[in-house]
Amino acid sequence: MAILPIVKYPDQILKTKASEVDEINSEIKTMLSNMAETMYDAPGIGLAGPQIGTSLRLCVVDVGDDEATGRIGRLYKLVNPEIVSKEGRIKYEEGCLSIPGIHEFVERASKIVVKAKNEDGESVTIEAEGLLAICLQHEIDHLDGILFTDRLTGLKRRIVLKKLQKNFLGT
Ligand code: NI
Repeated sequence: MAILPIVKYPDQILKTKASEVDEINSEIKTMLSNMAETMYDAPGIGLAGPQIGTSLRLCVVDVGDDEATGRIGRLYKLVNPEIVSKEGRIKYEEGCLSIPGIHEFVERASKIVVKAKNEDGESVTIEAEGLLAICLQHEIDHLDGILFTDRLTGLKRRIVLKKLQKNFLGT
């Protein structure tokens, strides 16, 4: 396993829609393991393919234990994840390993169902709520070239865009 460098804003790969994985081979499995190690090292609760410079629909997520719902934390390694249903609204202050130093409240669905393949190529269905739902939506957004800052609107969006320019482009 290896800890990989994390791609930072404004790298174009973060804006690019990632490609479907056709075959879950040993390279993909190694990549998922490296992504998990990189995520834990950062530390973070999720990491998507484009963030390690790989424009493939892969992500890893581990949000830890959730006392509110009694959910025990576990590591998800997901290939070609997609949201098949969503309901409710929840606001949570998000950050991103690719945009260090920026944290903002984002509104997302509070409950979602995700279908994906696991690293053994088996189909899995995840019924997620709370932080797990938020994190999965954040990571799946990465696979579509969308950053959490793209989800902001109005004045908040303008303020964050200025901060991004100052912090990452030096202008
Ligand atoms: Ni992120």
